[in-house]
Amino acid sequence: MTKCIVPAERTKYVTYAIRDIVVKAQQLEAKGKQILYLNIGDPPVYDFETPAELRQIVIDKIRQSNAGAKKNVSTYCDSMGIPEARQAIARHAVEDKGIKNITPGDVIISSGASEAITIAIAALIDPGNNIMTPSPGYPLYSGQIPVYHGEQNPYFLNEETGWQIDFDELERRVNDRTKAIVVINPNNPTGANYSKESILNILQFAEKYNLVVFADEIYDKLLIDGQRHISIASLSQSVPVVTFGGLSKNYIMPGWRVGWAIFHDPLKMMIDYREAINKLLRARLCSPHPQQYMIAPALDGDDGHLPEVIDKIRRRRDITFDMLNAIPGISCVKPGGAFYAFPQIQLPEGINDEQYVIELLEKTGVLVVYGKGFGQKPGTNHFRIVFLPDEDLLVRAYKLIGDFTEKFYDKYHFSPSR
Ligand SMILES: Cc1ncc(COP(=O)(O)O)c(C=O)c1O
Repeated sequence: MTKCIVPAERTKYVTYAIRDIVVKAQQLEAKGKQILYLNIGDPPVYDFETPAELRQIVIDKIRQSNAGAKKNVSTYCDSMGIPEARQAIARHAVEDKGIKNITPGDVIISSGASEAITIAIAALIDPGNNIMTPSPGYPLYSGQIPVYHGEQNPYFLNEETGWQIDFDELERRVNDRTKAIVVINPNNPTGANYSKESILNILQFAEKYNLVVFADEIYDKLLIDGQRHISIASLSQSVPVVTFGGLSKNYIMPGWRVGWAIFHDPLKMMIDYREAINKLLRARLCSPHPQQYMIAPALDGDDGHLPEVIDKIRRRRDITFDMLNAIPGISCVKPGGAFYAFPQIQLPEGINDEQYVIELLEKTGVLVVYGKGFGQKPGTNHFRIVFLPDEDLLVRAYKLIGDFTEKFYDKYHFSPSR
């Protein structure tokens, strides 16, 4: 008799709404429906270009690769990454991000920030431990924690204060099994950027409860309206901070899988933890190699592509903010960074954001991601928009959302309060 292969129970908790919803969109597309993709934070899919000089570096490295070990381009590299890239990341951490005393030995290179994040979680938690994660926040964190038998411990961000951290909420959530707190700055999906005061409060909180801070700063160069990004580790005198970064977003190359982690450890509290991470890094050999040669030229370059990128993002953010807030029943906080908005939608009793988003997709072809995929306060409904598409497409999509929402409310005889 054939017996089914049973997957591990823990995989049940791994959800990733950003891609899960695409399956539905693809089914509709196969039936001829035109889909307006506002769901994935992948700039080159829209009119953003990976800088040509960086692409050329990788092409050259791959061409040289049949020269083999002598040229050191086709072999496995050091598990922590190639030396010149680690030097550049350390230099950039000190000179641009203001993090003190970082050396190349404090840097690891990974397949996207995702791999560094996953390894950092894997090396930290034992069954029953928890990590505090922002809610809403990027779902990789909340999805990976249960894989290592940890417990999710979301802290709710405050929409009324522009999605800032609520420090009373942190005090309510922390417990004696908490090992770390994740801070995503600027945040995905809200686009919030944190002030110096907030960052100092986070550090004080982490110090009080002996937590490692996981500072996800993958969008640190994508700030709108001249806002300044403050790296959490730059203000830490004593708290251990692991900062995640990479080329995916700032340098428009998500699929190239270039990320890293920087360890700031003023009181040398992470020596054993870092060795545990290094063991996991060695076990997976190394992250892809030719791409790592782009890191130094990218970080040492003049970021000439960024003004245009930020200008486009600002214009698209403004259209998003204005048009969504003009729709009765929808309200949206103005994002200050990254390229996401997380509007709230009022819905009739018994209907949730997933149902709204699926019906929106079926009726209009507009694809956004339901808020529950990122976590949100119980009783509230949201959806995430990626505002990377060009202005014409965004205007078209927001008109469709407006018309659809009006009809949706009519169907349920529902009147939004604003
Ligand atoms: C907050 C956040 N962290 C990490 C990642 C993963 O980045 P990478 O492409 O470097 O794996 C993303 C990707 O969207 C993200 O939004």
